[in-house]
Amino acid sequence: MTKLIVLSEERPFAQGGNRLCFVHPENPNLCIKVRRPDFSLADRRRKKGFPKNLKPLSSFDDNQEEWRVMQSFEKHLDADAFKLLSRCYGFVETDMGLGLVSDLIRDDLGTISETLKKCIWDNGINEDISTAVKSFAEQWQRYSIPSRDLLLHNIVVQKHEGKIKRLVVIDGLGSAGIVPFYWLTTKSLANKARRKTANLYERIDALLDQRGQDKFPGYHGLLLHTGHTDSSNNGGAH
Ligand SMILES: Nc1ncnc2c1ncn2[C@@H]1O[C@H](COP(=O)(O)OP(=O)(O)OP(=O)(O)O)[C@@H](O)[C@H]1O
Ligand SMILES: [Mg+2]
Repeated sequence: MTKLIVLSEERPFAQGGNRLCFVHPENPNLCIKVRRPDFSLADRRRKKGFPKNLKPLSSFDDNQEEWRVMQSFEKHLDADAFKLLSRCYGFVETDMGLGLVSDLIRDDLGTISETLKKCIWDNGINEDISTAVKSFAEQWQRYSIPSRDLLLHNIVVQKHEGKIKRLVVIDGLGSAGIVPFYWLTTKSLANKARRKTANLYERIDALLDQRGQDKFPGYHGLLLHTGHTDSSNNGGAH
């Protein structure tokens, strides 16, 4: 029998609109994502309204969708494309439901990497960030990685010796369409990747415009803790 992993007694290190993210209790380099108990699949479907609410409940499950997409990436994408993504390893049973296991992105000193949203909010745009974004966008286009909109809280910034090593997309892959990406022409995949990176730049500009306000916009992208055993360094997301 497979072992049930207890998460309900742990503190998630972050949450999104749909999922809670935990450090894997048995491996600090992995994370486990489970559905937020306060926002069920049925709630999510109800919120969509007609006609999207006619779709089966399973189609609202981000974990299942992400796993499906990542498996098709393993088959169809260049191996180097995974430098821009956190790899997924499938499901484990937890006391909070099925959890999807993936690489947890950490900086060289062990801190869980912060999101591009938080990084730009704190620093504005400096040379290190603009070089990293440019290199990310070039590679995203080179590998034509299929994604939904590239949101700033779904990209994390991995640092090494105080400098940005790479940007990694941790959510929002695949596409809303029903046609699998590998049926599309190389040209249309490339066009799509180019559009997604172009609107990443627009999002960065919009966030820079918001920087005058005193409060970080929303909880998306704020860490609840750094993932170290020392809990004194808790970030405050609420
Ligand atoms: N592999 C990872 N490495 C480091 N941080 C991560 C990782 N996965 C998630 N995070 C952090 O957790 C937050 C929420 O994760 P995620 O985006 O997967 O949740 P979600 O509920 O699917 O989000 P959304 O609201 O975009 O649907 C991210 O914004 C990021 O700060
Ligand atoms: Mg997300």
